[in-house]
Amino acid sequence: MEYEIDQTLLERLRSAQHALVLTGAGMSAESGIPTFRDAQTGIWARYRPEELATPEAFAADPGRVWRWYEERREKVRQARPHAGHEALAALEHLIPSLTIATQNVDGLHQQAGSARVIELHGNILRSKCSVTHRPISSEWLKDVTGCPPPSPYNAKGLARPDVVWFGEVLPQDALDTAMAAARNCDICFSVGTTSLVQPAASLPLLAKQHGAILLEINPVDTALSAQADGRLRGPASSALQAVLQQLRGTA
Ligand code: OAD
Repeated sequence: MEYEIDQTLLERLRSAQHALVLTGAGMSAESGIPTFRDAQTGIWARYRPEELATPEAFAADPGRVWRWYEERREKVRQARPHAGHEALAALEHLIPSLTIATQNVDGLHQQAGSARVIELHGNILRSKCSVTHRPISSEWLKDVTGCPPPSPYNAKGLARPDVVWFGEVLPQDALDTAMAAARNCDICFSVGTTSLVQPAASLPLLAKQHGAILLEINPVDTALSAQADGRLRGPASSALQAVLQQLRGTA
């Protein structure tokens, strides 16, 4: 069988009380959202992060950064969850507590029905004030003009996407909750991430240090692969469906 999980791991999976799933850009790839680092199609193959995804880039040319994010937002608005997102939502009914910590900013896990999703890097569909970092409502944005629109909170502030840029820290609550879930889980999945960007990349290792088994889903080897107890080499949609079927005993 393709994606067969070894019997010992499957037993551990079946008896797991707490699961943590870390997802990265590869999770959204089959929904049509490009990854960051894949050589031909990745976003950073075409753009330089420091020109677009940094506070300095926004300060230097806010209009350019805002327009680039508007393009990406349009892609995200059109994207729909795939069978892998649905499998993760279904796993919530088989494992007593399942937390998803995602590096993705597209909201696809929530759209698929997952209830407990931690957004480590924010959400591209939300905006916030560039000075105060307070959330800006879509109603406000509808009624004002500007590229980017002004902030309602600060005369010098502008609307900016509510995402974490290079050089910025992650929202503390999100990171704390994800770290607590990592320390507490019996099984940790790492899905569709190169495991290169910190601190997210450390979550599976923290889980392992605290006794969890580690399962990686990715078409290729990553920085994490050597640490994983099991590796499913393939795309997130079919691999996660296979995990679900084996857990249900219907494979
Ligand atoms: P990357 O673009 O670095 O990695 C994508 C990973 O997904 C690679 O390991 C691919 O092999 C894998 N992949 C591709 N297609 C897949 C599929 N269909 N199913 C499963 N895996 C697949 O993305 P991340 O590791 O998520 O941060 O990048 C981490 C962070 O770096 C991003 O959140 C972003 C970026 O800079 C910020 O914007 C703060």
